[in-house]
Amino acid sequence: MRVLLLNLIEQTETDSTANNHAGEELWYQDAIFYEVYVRAFCDSSGNGHGDLKGLASKLDYLNDLGIDCLWLMPFYPSPLNDDGYDIADFYNIHPDYGSLDDFQGLVAEIHARGMRIITDLVLNHTSDQHPWFQAARSSRNSPYRNYYVWSDTKEKYKEARIIFVDTEESNWSWDEQAGQYYWHRFFSSQPDLNYDNPAVQDEMIKVMKFWLDLGVDGFRADAVPYLFEREGTNCENLPETHAYLRRLRRFMDENYPGRILLCEANQWPEDLRPYFGDGDEFHVGFHFPIMPRIFMALRKENVSPIEWIIERTPVIPDSCQWCIFLRNHDELTLEMVTEEERHWMWQEYAPEPRMRLNLGIRRRLAPLLDNNQKAIELLNSLLFTLPGSPIIYYGDEIGMGDDIWMADRDGVRTPMQWDTTLNAGFSESDPENLYSQVIENDTYAPDQVNVADQRKSSGSLFSNISKMIAVRKQSPVWGRGDFRWASTSTEQVAAYFRSYLGERILVVNNLSSSSQDISIDLHTGSTGMMVDLFTGKKYPVSKRDELRLTLEPYQYLWLTDGVGL
Ligand code: NOJ
Repeated sequence: MRVLLLNLIEQTETDSTANNHAGEELWYQDAIFYEVYVRAFCDSSGNGHGDLKGLASKLDYLNDLGIDCLWLMPFYPSPLNDDGYDIADFYNIHPDYGSLDDFQGLVAEIHARGMRIITDLVLNHTSDQHPWFQAARSSRNSPYRNYYVWSDTKEKYKEARIIFVDTEESNWSWDEQAGQYYWHRFFSSQPDLNYDNPAVQDEMIKVMKFWLDLGVDGFRADAVPYLFEREGTNCENLPETHAYLRRLRRFMDENYPGRILLCEANQWPEDLRPYFGDGDEFHVGFHFPIMPRIFMALRKENVSPIEWIIERTPVIPDSCQWCIFLRNHDELTLEMVTEEERHWMWQEYAPEPRMRLNLGIRRRLAPLLDNNQKAIELLNSLLFTLPGSPIIYYGDEIGMGDDIWMADRDGVRTPMQWDTTLNAGFSESDPENLYSQVIENDTYAPDQVNVADQRKSSGSLFSNISKMIAVRKQSPVWGRGDFRWASTSTEQVAAYFRSYLGERILVVNNLSSSSQDISIDLHTGSTGMMVDLFTGKKYPVSKRDELRLTLEPYQYLWLTDGVGL
């Protein structure tokens, strides 16, 4: 087990999987993940939509960046009311994006480069266009009626919160044809499946099997807290839900060892913990609550929000891993903060009402940080060095912008900016036929932000993120090591040790916009010299085992002394 002693996460002697640590089995503990919206990445056919072949043509780019595993957002047939999270057929590819043959080609190309792919497994709901729902609504006698959750009144499950508060007024919607209300936790066009029906449980295992047989390395399981409903509860994180998720895990372990389940549960740490079970539920889980606190720490120029959440983060089984992120395809969620903190975050990071969406902020990383490259890099330094596997949202490695005037979350899902040619090199189609406009504004237009230029420049965001990834890949300490706060003289700096199998690295992040003189107590065994992992620059350590540094605004250092704890 990993043991958390106040601020100390330590590997113990009783580590039951210690022998596996050198092995491939725990690959997800070391992996750098990358989230791709297929529709936005690269259009090979010229129809204005990104597609699977387009993505395949960009794999060398991702490989060069150092990505180990791609997560593909849904690419299945769908009316795209929720950009594919409203699935109309679990067993096929949206015609705009290609075919099953293309998918198999993509998987082969990914694996040929030693990378992996996980896909979205949307368990909780389907599109209302799915044939199951069409059959269900058409007759009370349909075998599919019981695939969904129906009621004659809207009175049931009143304690369940509404998630898309800007769009939906109730979790129940009336279906004229069915003559009943149906249950949905997201858009009303996404009816929830009824997991009390064993047939539904079996159907979704069939879906998993289909994609596992096509070679995927696992799934990012969407919206898992909401699978079951029970009166008198908030209908989240129920024991029945966990039992079913463990069944999915058993199925994978027995038939597809080495493949993973990544949990999307936007919950507090104590409610996230059960999703790892005894190492028999999810392999990896997104750490939702740490994300907004990274942004808080930056704006407050104070490490305490990160300290607070790490202290509150429970021990997880040794075979498991957190996945940490700065941004993704959704709004920057502020569900896992207090109401006061949410208002503070809105005031600081979303001053215009249009920047807000539901309980979050619809902005990308670079605009959130006023396009301050130093600050963006600093947050990436935290992303790559705090405990967990990092995931990058496509486009954030070049600091892409957003468009808050687009509907819903569309403004953070615009075409990838490859170069300065037509449509930012994303597509050869007539710009009018693009699924979305390319970002056009003075700061973030393709002539300012694009892959080609940033690859050529050694000081670009892309180059510096690539360097961080390359350094991270040289050591297992990041994915597997212990974490311990370093004692420093100032709260404006986040400083911590990561250590594993005799290696110790000190990470120092200046959260503030001013220079900081700090001293760090290195405790035991310093060799008298700390070495910068990026530049090789040496920093002398005083006789009293103290490291004194002057940090530039937002400067980060990853320093090794070659000593174990
Ligand atoms: C979570 C996904 O991240 C989000 O994009 C989607 O709208 C909901 N689940 C519903 O599937």
